[in-house]
Amino acid sequence: MRGLKNCWYVAGWAHEVADELFSRKILGEQVLIYRQADGKAVAIADLCPHRFAPLSMGRIRGDNVECGYHGLQFDGTGACVHNPHGKALPTACRVKAYPIIERHGVLWLWMGDQTKAAAAQIPDFSHLVAQGRKTIYGGTPVSASYELIADNLMDASHTQYVHLDLLGTDAFAKAKHEVIEEDGSIHSNYLVADSSVPAAYRDYFDDSIQTVDYSVNFHWQAPGLVINRVSLVPNDHPDKAIYRTGTHLMTPETETTCHYFFAHTRNFQIDDTRVDARTRRWQKLGLTEQDGPIIEACQRMMGNESDIMKMRPVLFPFDEAAVRVRRMLQRLIDTELAADTNASAPISATA
Ligand code: FES
Ligand SMILES: [Fe+2]
Repeated sequence: MRGLKNCWYVAGWAHEVADELFSRKILGEQVLIYRQADGKAVAIADLCPHRFAPLSMGRIRGDNVECGYHGLQFDGTGACVHNPHGKALPTACRVKAYPIIERHGVLWLWMGDQTKAAAAQIPDFSHLVAQGRKTIYGGTPVSASYELIADNLMDASHTQYVHLDLLGTDAFAKAKHEVIEEDGSIHSNYLVADSSVPAAYRDYFDDSIQTVDYSVNFHWQAPGLVINRVSLVPNDHPDKAIYRTGTHLMTPETETTCHYFFAHTRNFQIDDTRVDARTRRWQKLGLTEQDGPIIEACQRMMGNESDIMKMRPVLFPFDEAAVRVRRMLQRLIDTELAADTNASAPISATA
């Protein structure tokens, strides 16, 4: 499928993979993830090369996976290491293995050329597990291209329509918006000065706080990683400011479906379980029940097309960040394809 291959994708939250086999389709490939006896996560294709049974229907045996059909065992490198029916182990009897690294509570999976997988390229998401913060995790499958979710995040103008009851503000019309491209990433920053307190944040302030400087900054990195920093600074009590970091990680499942992982990290009331519950309600309402249906409806109207630019959408200045993201991602994909083509081109006899 269309997509960047040589990059780290989010396979899931680390806590999703415990002591059982875990299978998820990523970029059209069904990937099996499990933990070896020492707790290290490994990823191999979820497909037995014998009769193509999904290995996820088998069981874990020490560091290996035993196919549930005839009992062949594979290790975390994809090698067949045990044949219960004899000693023969055909060399073709192996499955694809994927580099996978657990960092900052995220399982990062490499789908491309394994020789290029460098742990140093994993983006910094240390805020998820930083001391003195609390993170609430969630996620949902979305029947839409992961790029449509990036569009949605980078263009906050939809807030006043899709999330009016949660995040809308009377002052959005005078918001300052800037789009910055730097170091292979895109920022879309909004500052709403002298704003009413959006409903989703009302409970975090006492009644003496009526207006805030409300800033919402989105930072996109390839392939579909967005950090969203929100601050609300009361005009009369800047000491009562609150800061929240949203994490939005989109991984393609197929051309027109994706996995949407989200998390919210706060530096206030971190031991208050009522705030945890409120955050979960906001995630469900705001992301799963408000953003999800409108994005899925757009995808349904687009049919099997995942690249909205091919459909020549009408664009406005407020689309700038989303369009820049799409262009940057497309450039990366094109560069990768060109490198692959050059690498596989036959050497001309007349050169
Ligand atoms: S299908 Fe897996 S061992 Fe036969
Ligand atoms: Fe939204």
